Amino acid sequence: MTAHSLLQMRNNGGAPSKLNESKVEPNTYSPGKDLADTNPGGSLESTPTSRAQARQAVRIHNRAIRLAQGRSMKEQTPSTQNRRAPSSTIQITLEINGAAHTLEIEPRVSLLDALREHLHLTGTKKGCNQGACGACTVLCNGDRILSCLTLAIQYEGMEITTIEGLGTAGELHPLQVEFMEQDGFQCGYCTPGQICSAVGMIREFRNGLPSAVTKDVSARPVELSEEEISE
Ligand code: FES
Repeated sequence: MTAHSLLQMRNNGGAPSKLNESKVEPNTYSPGKDLADTNPGGSLESTPTSRAQARQAVRIHNRAIRLAQGRSMKEQTPSTQNRRAPSSTIQITLEINGAAHTLEIEPRVSLLDALREHLHLTGTKKGCNQGACGACTVLCNGDRILSCLTLAIQYEGMEITTIEGLGTAGELHPLQVEFMEQDGFQCGYCTPGQICSAVGMIREFRNGLPSAVTKDVSARPVELSEEEISE
């Protein structure tokens, strides 16, 4: 009983006010409530009229829900579209293992993904994808590079060599032969990267590039010592 009803009772000498006792408190919309009001017997199924009204109320209720859901989806659409900006692609041509390959790719594609996902040259491996493991090493104009840290579009006009281009099944590269004869594998996953890196390292040595363990960096190293090889 509300405070307002108590006040009415006091004004009526203690008798409850019929008007206020029958008053319905404000409430949220409930399908069928109006029907109950029109059906004093309390049963919605008691007459054909009340059944028809009940069905109509349910239809209105369901339609209101569908409209609300539709509006909510429309409201979400612009922000969803903003998050997914339409991608734009460019055409590039890469020289890989002596053959030209034209690709239609997004500018953000790494050289590693261009090799593996677009050209299906899966000999180059994806390990850490952040420049730490070396599994993705390939040669660019003879220099070793980490293909996961480079964009494919940077290498147009340069000569890329992957493990597939170093040797063939019938004629392996000498370093591939050595890896097999010396059982130079661990799990083998990064072996292509190791071999490409070793080929690049030998070229660097021949070009006189010092390493972190070269004692005299001004002198051209004449010997590929154990220490240099380890480094
Ligand atoms: S995948 Fe590890 S350095 Fe590129």
